[in-house]
Amino acid sequence: MGPAVLPTDPAALPLLHHGRIDLAGRLVEASNVTLLCTVHGDGLSAECVYKPIRGERPLWDFPEGTLADREVASWLLSEATGWSLVPPTVLRSGPLGPGMVQLWIDAEDKPKLVDVVALDAVPRGWRTVLRAHDRYGNPVLLAHADSEGMRQLAVLDVLINNADRKGGHVLAGADSAVYGVDHGICLHHEDKLRTVLWGFLGQPLPAAVLEVLRRVRSRLDGALGVALTEHVTPAEVWAVRERTDRLLATERFPAPTGNWPAIPWPAF
Ligand SMILES: Nc1ncnc2c1ncn2[C@@H]1O[C@H](COP(=O)(O)OP(=O)(O)O)[C@@H](O)[C@H]1O
Ligand SMILES: [Mg+2]
Repeated sequence: MGPAVLPTDPAALPLLHHGRIDLAGRLVEASNVTLLCTVHGDGLSAECVYKPIRGERPLWDFPEGTLADREVASWLLSEATGWSLVPPTVLRSGPLGPGMVQLWIDAEDKPKLVDVVALDAVPRGWRTVLRAHDRYGNPVLLAHADSEGMRQLAVLDVLINNADRKGGHVLAGADSAVYGVDHGICLHHEDKLRTVLWGFLGQPLPAAVLEVLRRVRSRLDGALGVALTEHVTPAEVWAVRERTDRLLATERFPAPTGNWPAIPWPAF
């Protein structure tokens, strides 16, 4: 397999769109049919995730067969911020029919960014989210790292209305940048933010973030809004505008609404 294709490599997207996909294995912990694959083309190859639409597990609150499009729409929004938090993601046909294909982020040797730790073992500078008990009854804390990338991911989750930001969906890449994966249940028009990244709750949004949100907001009225409409409904695109407006009005990381479980369980 030649040199690794980084998410920021301009060759990644054409490779994912046009490369030959070979199945390598199934991710057994996944809730949908989620396949680890290699994609080859033009002297390049890379590992990727392939989720065929026909392998999507039906859910009560999201229309059937729409998860792959939600993954691509989430990637479009990540790209619009310029933060490149979602690995390159495309919609295409594959060995098991149409589905989403996303570059694999090799985070195996990288430090965790979200963890459950003993009360006296919170890594320096991390933010705690909640206190719970482990299976032996010992108190533990759910906590996550604090960095520019983690704050950006928490903001992106508000924009895409992520209903399932588990700890295992926050990865450190080979370039040590922060990546988010698994965006199948995002972009519902109703507020469904469910995340482990509540450590920034109530904090002011950095000026640079506000600047980016203003730019995204204007693009939502142009080409970005049109591009999103190819993947989600007009009402869902409107809801992205409203969530962006709300962030720009409050200038703060939001708090849970209380109408919906705020933290995914299991948290990983
Ligand atoms: N692009 C990716 N890069 C690296 N690991 C990934 C990627 N996408 C998924 N994974 C890993 O595979 C697991 C299962 O994939 P996920 O997207 O959560 O599938 P599902 O939609 O079935 O829940 C994730 O928890 C994560 O550990
Ligand atoms: Mg998952």
